[in-house]
Amino acid sequence: MFNTMTVTKAAGALISSMLFLMLVSWGASALYRVGPDHHGDEEIAQAYTIPVQEAEGAAEEVEEGPDFAEIFASADPAAGERAFAKCRACHKVDGSDGVGPHLNGVVGRDVAAVDGFNYSDAMAGHEGAWDPDHLQQFLTDPRGFVPGNKMAFAGIRNIQERADLIAYLEANP
Ligand code: HEC
Repeated sequence: MFNTMTVTKAAGALISSMLFLMLVSWGASALYRVGPDHHGDEEIAQAYTIPVQEAEGAAEEVEEGPDFAEIFASADPAAGERAFAKCRACHKVDGSDGVGPHLNGVVGRDVAAVDGFNYSDAMAGHEGAWDPDHLQQFLTDPRGFVPGNKMAFAGIRNIQERADLIAYLEANP
């Protein structure tokens, strides 16, 4: 069946495909420096490092607007007095307590420091003093910030409103 010519052709085809494979693998190792000699070599890591240009202003994009201290510095106590309408059902600023403790003098006052007011264990156990930033964090999310406290109030999302409100409280020592 097979004549010499067929065998020669087959052998030729086999040899050329082997040659081709050798060339390809040689070419590949030259390009990417893979192979036992270079395994673990720093240059391998280099070969796969794709330089990405840092987007300009990327850091600014994640920043959230002006911070509280900045807004508080120019807060409006008169607007804060209007915002205090949300608190009046429970808090007064005349030194007497209602559902909640009086809030005149609260800015800078220690947490849970009104004598005779029956604070929850959660509030009584909350450390610190009500400086403006501490207050604004509490007022953003009262139940999240002091878990288990008994102030039934959802919070004030608007940072300007919190700043104005605290400026009003600060003006009522
Ligand atoms: C539904 C009633 C209610 C409303 C409305 C309410 N509070 Fe309170 N607040 C309380 C109670 C009750 C406490 C005491 C919480 C505790 O002991 O767990 C409290 C505690 C506080 C404290 C801590 C006082 C301290 O002596 O440590 C601050 C500050 C405060 N409230 C601010 C406000 C502000 C500002 C508003 C309006 C934006 C407001 N609350 C709205 C009931 C209320």
